[in-house]
Amino acid sequence: MSTGIATAFAPGRVNLIGEHTDYNDGLALAFAVRTGVTVCAAGGTGEQLEVIAHDLGERDSFSRDAPTPADGWRAYVRGAVAELQDQGYRPSATRLEITSDLPAGAGMSSSAALTLAVCLALIELDGEQPPAATELARICQRVEARWAGAETGLLDQLASLCGSADHVLLIDFLTLEVQTLAFDLRGFRLVLLPTGPARTNAGSGYNQRRAECREAAHRMRVESLRDATIQDLHMLPDALARRARHVISENGRVLAATRALRDGDLAALGELLDRSHASLRDDFEVSTDTVETAVAELKAAGAVGARLMGGGFGGSVLALMAPGTVAPAGATVVSPGPGARVIS
Ligand code: GLA
Repeated sequence: MSTGIATAFAPGRVNLIGEHTDYNDGLALAFAVRTGVTVCAAGGTGEQLEVIAHDLGERDSFSRDAPTPADGWRAYVRGAVAELQDQGYRPSATRLEITSDLPAGAGMSSSAALTLAVCLALIELDGEQPPAATELARICQRVEARWAGAETGLLDQLASLCGSADHVLLIDFLTLEVQTLAFDLRGFRLVLLPTGPARTNAGSGYNQRRAECREAAHRMRVESLRDATIQDLHMLPDALARRARHVISENGRVLAATRALRDGDLAALGELLDRSHASLRDDFEVSTDTVETAVAELKAAGAVGARLMGGGFGGSVLALMAPGTVAPAGATVVSPGPGARVIS
């Protein structure tokens, strides 16, 4: 048992390009943002874990050794404790205090940031070694799946954990290799425009899309859509063919975006964002009218590219604004910051 205090921070993430590719063994270019969730864990006596979410003005209290399911943000905290126990950790904290400067539901993965920060603070408090980044990412992924009902991939967790200031991460979800690439926008800015209340992954069509991708891969007799080609699509009924086409073409756009960034070709990057959005809207069918309005607004304001970011069915629109243009009211500039870490 520890009577000390440990504090950890985990940032949210922006996915530059590569949407719905992570659970298909694909590719994404993402980065950790500068804002996120801070969790302070304190030891004491007792078996109850008291949790205070300062920004929400809400609390939770549960048996630390036998957390039971709960809704909303509570699911991630309880799930983190339970999944750490499943891995042999014995968290001894009796109090957790949570603060966040990441807007919940804006599509920047506040849930993954919360889960990671809870895990890191709990492990640090007990003087334990955290698992390797990929292992910790998987633990947090299980929290999403088992405690929040969203069968997500590893994008949010790896981007938050591996973030590096002024760099973007090229993540290969087949090998879990993460490459850091210099991120120089040459005077362009990346902005995020929230589109109103986002729907949670679990409550949206997210899990259905994941199942459709699995079914498409199965029918094409490949391990995952990473191994499928456009030529194979004729084996599929229309809707499944369009889902698979999005994933296959999106992996290609991630590689093209990597080249565009290396070449400093921001116009090409903008065009790839537009093409990604069209594919998410028409083939993957995860856009909404509100998202379309936000995309149009950003394009009218001078964005060279704009796309829906994250799981879809709401969330935020990411746009690349040309120098000298003014982003619409409500948009915030985002840039790469360092990854999740213990602060003290
Ligand atoms: C959500 C999930 C991620 C990823 C994206 C879509 O953010 O949590 O794992 O699948 O949607 O790219």
